[in-house]
Amino acid sequence: MNKRVLFVDDEQKVLDALARMLRPMRDTWDMSFVGSGQKALASLGAEPFDVLVTDMRMPGMDGCQLLREVRNRYPEVVRIVLSGQSEGEMFLKSVRLAHQYLAKPCDADALRATIERTCTLRDWLANATIKRVVSSMESLPSMPSLYAEIIKALESPDVHVGKVATIIAKDVGMTAKVLQLVNSAYFSLRQHVAGITQAVNLLGLDTIKSLVLSLQVFSQFEEKKILALSIDKVWRHSLRVGVAAKAIMKHETKDPTLIDDAFMAGMLHDMGKFILAANFPEDYVRIKEMAEAEKISLAESEKKLLGTTHAEIGGYLLTLWALPDSIVEAVTFHHSPDHCLASSLSPMPVVHIADMLEHQSRSDHSEERRGSFDERYAEKYSLDRIAAWRDLCAHLSDEESCEDG
Ligand SMILES: [Fe+2]
Ligand SMILES: [Fe+2]
Repeated sequence: MNKRVLFVDDEQKVLDALARMLRPMRDTWDMSFVGSGQKALASLGAEPFDVLVTDMRMPGMDGCQLLREVRNRYPEVVRIVLSGQSEGEMFLKSVRLAHQYLAKPCDADALRATIERTCTLRDWLANATIKRVVSSMESLPSMPSLYAEIIKALESPDVHVGKVATIIAKDVGMTAKVLQLVNSAYFSLRQHVAGITQAVNLLGLDTIKSLVLSLQVFSQFEEKKILALSIDKVWRHSLRVGVAAKAIMKHETKDPTLIDDAFMAGMLHDMGKFILAANFPEDYVRIKEMAEAEKISLAESEKKLLGTTHAEIGGYLLTLWALPDSIVEAVTFHHSPDHCLASSLSPMPVVHIADMLEHQSRSDHSEERRGSFDERYAEKYSLDRIAAWRDLCAHLSDEESCEDG
């Protein structure tokens, strides 16, 4: 079935240009072009759409109002902002409401690639309820202690980038959101950013302050809701996997982008567990019970009960937020690294290995009951090399995650 895309802009000439530019796509997409937020809502009420691409500054209903309505009424629709570079304040306001941002003028290839990528993804996650919940998420809740810490730091008169970056780099939710913003087309950076200090520098402390203090983009976990999951345990594990993945990558390459990517992907790899436990707490209890009773991994139990896994769910949110492909890939396939076709070392196998080593170091086999990675990777990365990585990981401490880069 063709994908349905709705474009909204109050300037007819912008709509005409989009229609002209996207003509080659008309066999694959059904496109509608409307001149206002009200007309967009009427179209959405009349027929289903997969993707909304909207301008921000419009008379009557502006982009923020439209995005909010669409998120509330049609959460499954992917929400993309296409707006001018000068609309800084509008951009910040839309941060909680839009999945992705594109800057005008946008070339046909970038627009096509963004829409195609999100459409492919919508088909791929099978569970419609989870899909709806994930696409209505504004942010991923943070560790309560780190949330309190960042508020305190930002309110202090001698706040500095290093301090803020150190706090953000320890929290899965804050890290994901900051990477989403800094990698959005709004900043028009040629290279993707995966280092948190660089991200905080680019966004600026004033932006971070308004995001956290006035727009309240970050939120904290409500511990009572997620009884089945020890958020503290998963958080510690995530941090350790991030540190281990970074150490392995550093051992293999000097490329700073690959090293940053490996750390970020390691930090974020189990974020789907937070999403599941916070939004589907009862299902999560059943998932854990089934894994215990049938002696299968959590991911297998999730697949049986929900038709998907925490790895795919985390990957889905990160793709919706347009995080770099290498990070999305590592998160999505950290339990199924056979998907890795690349012959060069990428964050995906590194995160898989770091995850296994971290579980093994704590004799926690719940995630990797089926075979050890040594057999699977013996051919690809010699046993000697794997032994060296294991050695490397055995001597790491959590604290090392705080140094960025
Ligand atoms: Fe996992
Ligand atoms: Fe894990």
